[in-house]
Amino acid sequence: MDKKAELHPVLVNLSRLLQQVERVVVLTGAGISHESGIPTFRGPGGLWRNFRPEDLATPQAFARDPHLVWEWYDWRRGLISRAEPHAGHRALVRLEEMVPEFTLITQNVDGLHARAGSRRVLEVHGSIWEVRCTACGLVREDRRVPLPLLPRCQACGGLLRPNVVWFGESLDSGVLEAVHLALKQAQVMLVVGTSAVVQPAASFALWARQSGAKLAEINPDPTPLTSVCDFVLPGKAGEVLPLLVEALAEEA
Ligand code: APR
Repeated sequence: MDKKAELHPVLVNLSRLLQQVERVVVLTGAGISHESGIPTFRGPGGLWRNFRPEDLATPQAFARDPHLVWEWYDWRRGLISRAEPHAGHRALVRLEEMVPEFTLITQNVDGLHARAGSRRVLEVHGSIWEVRCTACGLVREDRRVPLPLLPRCQACGGLLRPNVVWFGESLDSGVLEAVHLALKQAQVMLVVGTSAVVQPAASFALWARQSGAKLAEINPDPTPLTSVCDFVLPGKAGEVLPLLVEALAEEA
């Protein structure tokens, strides 16, 4: 049985609900970039060139060995620069056009949602395409691949770091405020391609649910969120999201 037939009843019910509401929030994780050829963090093959994110994506690792951390990020930037958004990313662009108030919250730092054409994107873990000076704090976009290692601040010569949120660091307060507002007002929230284990993003769906949102999960595997979701669509983002948008278009 093909995926459309397998998911048909859930796709119909979820698209009917999406047709009736105004405010939709989507949360994505590394799983939606997987079909673009970018490894996830915790799935099979989730090692980033034999490194665990917990070992390198930390302020302590950067202080201890900035060259190793930059080698790892430069390798990821190279990989991501060769990746393309896929049908799942593009389906979210279509969904944004079809829904009156749409907010896309992503844990991914790869920028693929913006490259696909998504407009309202909240990057809660920052961007791998931005660098921040550890001395003067200047943040700017830097898309050089490869980067000169170690990259230095053009303004003050200080050591640059990736402008991403590392383990143990807090999210940007402005971004978090926008996330809270979107979750409080959400009527439907789609959770796509996240293992729902890294806080605070892992709690976003529960916050939305507390405000009355209906939850839908798109993931080939079950997660800690699956049992509290109103709609469960087992499958890959690149397969399921286009089917959902197609079902919604048929409802219109
Ligand atoms: N489509 C949808 N989901 C998929 C696909 C796919 N094609 N392939 C894998 N997945 C799912 C996996 O089943 C898993 O649940 O994507 C999820 C990936 O989980 P993680 O690798 O833990 O990624 P994520 O949840 O985004 O990690 C959160 O942890 O390392 C930090 O900052 C990093 O943002 C990251 C955060």
